[in-house]
Amino acid sequence: MFKRILITSGPTIEPIDPVRFLSNRSSGRTGCHLAEEARRRGLGPVVFITGPTAHIPARAQVVRVESAQEMRAAVNEHWRRADVIIMAAAVSDYRSVKYYPDKMKKDGERLTLELVKNPDILLELGGRKRRGQVLVGFAAETEDIFANAQKKLLAKNLDLLVLNEISAANPAFGSEENQVYLVRRDGVRRLETMSKALVAARVWDEIIDLAGRAG
Ligand code: CTP
Repeated sequence: MFKRILITSGPTIEPIDPVRFLSNRSSGRTGCHLAEEARRRGLGPVVFITGPTAHIPARAQVVRVESAQEMRAAVNEHWRRADVIIMAAAVSDYRSVKYYPDKMKKDGERLTLELVKNPDILLELGGRKRRGQVLVGFAAETEDIFANAQKKLLAKNLDLLVLNEISAANPAFGSEENQVYLVRRDGVRRLETMSKALVAARVWDEIIDLAGRAG
């Protein structure tokens, strides 16, 4: 059905010194389920670009990266030939300005680490999206969730945004289940709390619907 599917997954890790890094709680489960579901349905070959995670799909072309900059380079190599791109990775927003090649010593009571923003890979993809390419992003919001999601959808030129409302009741990160909203330009659909495997199946239903409408 699709020529090539590009999925990013997992966290990125941003090195500080040889033994330390900045990262986040992304498990990589949803990205892995998205790839497995594509295979189960025979939707097309998957290129799976992932940060460090235990959740790796079978029978995908797997590209392992660590930092946001490495993920961006891998995405830049593969995006052109993909007709569906799903950015499920939790890309670290910031990295350390400096990499300390020698392990940092705990000399002082306080330590200030200067951070610099990472490139927004999805924003870049949105800026050069081809006709017929379906671009899917994820978001985690805690307030004004729908207004922020619509803004993000437009700013990043997305066709679909999978919106997580992060709360005590829905931790999302690290959990087996999730409750999400599927945000499109023409409306929002609330999904019940369900396994991440089922979320992945619903996301594919939506992508297939969008691709059908586009083509
Ligand atoms: N993303 C990316 N490159 C980044 C940051 C995020 O490609 N440097 C992608 C993620 O893969 C995800 C989406 O953009 O698909 C998340 O967008 P973001 O603006 O980071 O949303 P939130 O995580 O909701 O963060 P914020 O609170 O900053 O809006």
